[in-house]
Amino acid sequence: MADRYQQFTKTPVGKFLVPKLGLPNPATLRRYQPGQPPLEGPALLGAAPGGRLEKTVKTQLADAGIDVVTEAAGDQKYGALVFDATGVTDPKQLREVYKFFQPVIRRVGYCGRVVVLGTPPELAEGRERVAQRALEGFVRSVAKELKRGATAQLVYVATGAEEATESTLRFLLSAKSAFVDAQVIRIGAVGQAQVTAPESWDKPLAGKVALVTGASRGIGAAIAEVLARDGAHVVALDIPAQGADLSKTANKVGGTALQLDITAADAPEKLAEHLTQRHGGVDIVVHNAGITRDKTLGNLTEGGWDSVIAVNLASQLAVNDKLLADKVLHDGGRIIGVSSIAGIAGNVGQTNYATSKAGVIGMVNVGAPVLAERGGTINAVAPGFIETKMTAAVPLFIREAGRRLSSLGQGGLPVDVAETIAWYANPASAAVNGNVVRVCGQALLGA
Ligand SMILES: NC(=O)c1ccc[n+]([C@@H]2O[C@H](COP(=O)([O-])OP(=O)(O)OC[C@H]3O[C@@H](n4cnc5c(N)ncnc54)[C@H](O)[C@@H]3O)[C@@H](O)[C@H]2O)c1
Repeated sequence: MADRYQQFTKTPVGKFLVPKLGLPNPATLRRYQPGQPPLEGPALLGAAPGGRLEKTVKTQLADAGIDVVTEAAGDQKYGALVFDATGVTDPKQLREVYKFFQPVIRRVGYCGRVVVLGTPPELAEGRERVAQRALEGFVRSVAKELKRGATAQLVYVATGAEEATESTLRFLLSAKSAFVDAQVIRIGAVGQAQVTAPESWDKPLAGKVALVTGASRGIGAAIAEVLARDGAHVVALDIPAQGADLSKTANKVGGTALQLDITAADAPEKLAEHLTQRHGGVDIVVHNAGITRDKTLGNLTEGGWDSVIAVNLASQLAVNDKLLADKVLHDGGRIIGVSSIAGIAGNVGQTNYATSKAGVIGMVNVGAPVLAERGGTINAVAPGFIETKMTAAVPLFIREAGRRLSSLGQGGLPVDVAETIAWYANPASAAVNGNVVRVCGQALLGA
């Protein structure tokens, strides 16, 4: 599973050879540790004239313990550059974006952050819509130019959702978003009553019950750990054949193990019963269980098609229907799907898998208004190359290409996917609904 090339670049020989030969030199990404400072260096905050977010954002960043400055000074290195572009209502005003970033872009520090805030183009009209849509090209290009583990994101904030940005800014600026790069996130307008700041930002999920499917190993085990770290009681589910590993995960996180094949006809019923009787319902559902049966279409059997659709898509729809119909999922609940960049870009040998993972995106599209009516949300993560047993089994050449062909030049870790899911689950993320965020280090595949 280890990325031997990246390890080599940190050795004395590697440090000598890599720059001489012009080889890729992926940064060791800064990852979240409890108690670490939110940023390494101050955040420089700017705004185009007429922006509606600057004031609120300034307060939110200060509340998060970030040192916020509004004037660039000398040769200061910045932990983050944050720009409120909501005042850009005409393409001519895009110059404001250039004016803010151009002089300081080289001063983004190691694993620094660039965040541009805008208005969702679909909620704007005419030239404002054009200008706001243009921001996407800017952010995606900046992300490709940044070095040393730094990332860039675009957050579109609907009018009326100005106060609902805190959990997203905290996530994007922190080391929790280490492998999230060049993403476009939408924050919708929901009643403020639903966007509740957690009592403790260290334990935002205290008192919540979270179901994680496929939790015995890999990404699912990491999701269980992170949700438990954030205070949730985790119900860890996996097939009976994974029973031993499942118990290990459940014990490690102080949760409950539930052996169940999620594709069984009676699985939704059994699950609803368990969650109701043992836990009084559920607040967070993470559909992580997934399988691959890779073959090019001409060689793919009916069984290889059916099993992948059954685990990766159909079972999730059946579970959602049951948990919603019987109100097992509490009002304000969260459903989180695990898609894949293969579901966005397609992949050779994965017609079945990519179909199922694109279907997960469809599930988010259809579910968003349904969940919103109950004060809840549904979102998905789309992981790229993540270092797991699954990717360790990929042939060497393809594995190396998967790792290196991204802006961050390396694979992500299961924890990177888990942290993104924990951000969706946060009570303060109630206005983050209907998003599909890639956790892929800006992989060139399907970019
Ligand atoms: N590893 C990656 O690079 C990557 C990339 C994109 C997406 N993903 C997705 O992330 C998720 C987790 O991937 P992983 O790499 O940890 O895989 P994994 O194979 O290590 O874990 C998947 C888990 O799902 C469980 N599972 C399978 N069928 C099940 C069923 N019928 N009922 C209950 N549990 C079942 C398995 O037993 C296993 O524990 C999957 O949905 C996968 O498609 C992974």
